[in-house]
Amino acid sequence: MKSVHLIAGARPNFMKIAPLWHALKDQSWCSPILVHTGQHYDAAMSDAFFTDLGLPKPHYHLGAGSGSHAKQTAAVMVAYEELCEQKPPDNVVVVGDVNSTMACSIAAKKLVLPVSHLEAGLRSFDRTMPEEINRLLTDAIADLLWTPSPDADENLLREGVAPEKIERVGNIMIDSLVMMRPRIEQTESARAHGLTPGGYGVVTLHRPVNVDTREALGVALSAIVEISRLVPLAFPMHPRTRARVTEFGFDEMVAKATNIKLLPPLGYVEFMSLLMDSVVAITDSGGVQEETCYLGIPCLTVRESTERPITITSGTNRLVKMAEVAKVAAGVLGKSGTSTTGTKTVPEYWDGKTAERVVASLRRTLGV
Ligand code: UD1
Ligand code: UDP
Repeated sequence: MKSVHLIAGARPNFMKIAPLWHALKDQSWCSPILVHTGQHYDAAMSDAFFTDLGLPKPHYHLGAGSGSHAKQTAAVMVAYEELCEQKPPDNVVVVGDVNSTMACSIAAKKLVLPVSHLEAGLRSFDRTMPEEINRLLTDAIADLLWTPSPDADENLLREGVAPEKIERVGNIMIDSLVMMRPRIEQTESARAHGLTPGGYGVVTLHRPVNVDTREALGVALSAIVEISRLVPLAFPMHPRTRARVTEFGFDEMVAKATNIKLLPPLGYVEFMSLLMDSVVAITDSGGVQEETCYLGIPCLTVRESTERPITITSGTNRLVKMAEVAKVAAGVLGKSGTSTTGTKTVPEYWDGKTAERVVASLRRTLGV
């Protein structure tokens, strides 16, 4: 029996480990072990996803919590090293690009444990993003690199990664979406929030570059208020953004915008139901770019770059400067508030079967 750590710490990790957990838990050769680093800890940022995605309570909780990058990364490394020293796993699976991903990869590799990275090879080529540093470091030391798209394979090859370490398995986020779709479709999130399906947009914002200075957040909120004059907007607010809105004195501005439905961070099923019935997404999220790509919903990504260029070439996503997003949104939304773009080509292997391919690859690697 091989023990495999599935590492998760922050919101986008949970929907990436859930399909793997479900695919591994009944395999006779494998004992999957859930390790929660504690990077995200609010019920709405963590527990809600365990419930929605049918995950059991984590076997280990490292309790790292918030802090500066170094403090948070170090807290995860110290706690994870201790766990690995006591009970070394046969393989460590890390997902995505958050601080927990990099921290556990480094701690494990220093103990000479094999590390596999799911969602490897994505690059924004913007090293001011903390996630880009996490991606580069994780991919440089991982033993097995599971990629979601051909651009990711090319990035790794260009960086000199040996081809035999790279395996394209597809997009694991889409596995969660496919797995949960029947429940998502039964949920009437829009109506529950007083919105009409097909008649509103969804906003999510949490990147430091958009929310961590008064100036940037002011520009973002002004743009969103302007768009809300064209179409009602649902805005489930990330805790980082929530804190900054108050800190920079924007509470009143946001409360006065009656066409913006301010919401707490939503659980996965509720959020996906809201997204699925929307006409446009305005976001800086990585996951939302992918989900809208799969669903064929126009996505305006308010960032200078994306590590997910395939969502642009597939036809749903475009990069937009925050100062221009209101104008672009007006172009995307017809006079009736219905969106006019969003033709989709779903990328290869974004098919709900990524976990199956990962399990087969893991089994080969473990030689069982
Ligand atoms: C992290 C990831 C980012 C990912 C995002 C998903 C890194 C460097 N960043 O950003 O890549 O897109 O998660 O949501 O790993 N907070 C709470 N409650 C929580 C968690 C956080 O209130 O449960 C607040 C704290 O004030 C904290 C702040 O949010 O300081 C930021 O949390 P942190 O995990 O450091 O970064 P995120 O912005 O969430
Ligand atoms: N999400 C959610 N509730 C919300 C906002 C997002 O369930 O209120 C989900 C959604 O599936 C999204 C994922 O969380 O793709 C990750 O979102 P986030 O923006 O936090 O992280 P990123 O993908 O940018 O790293």
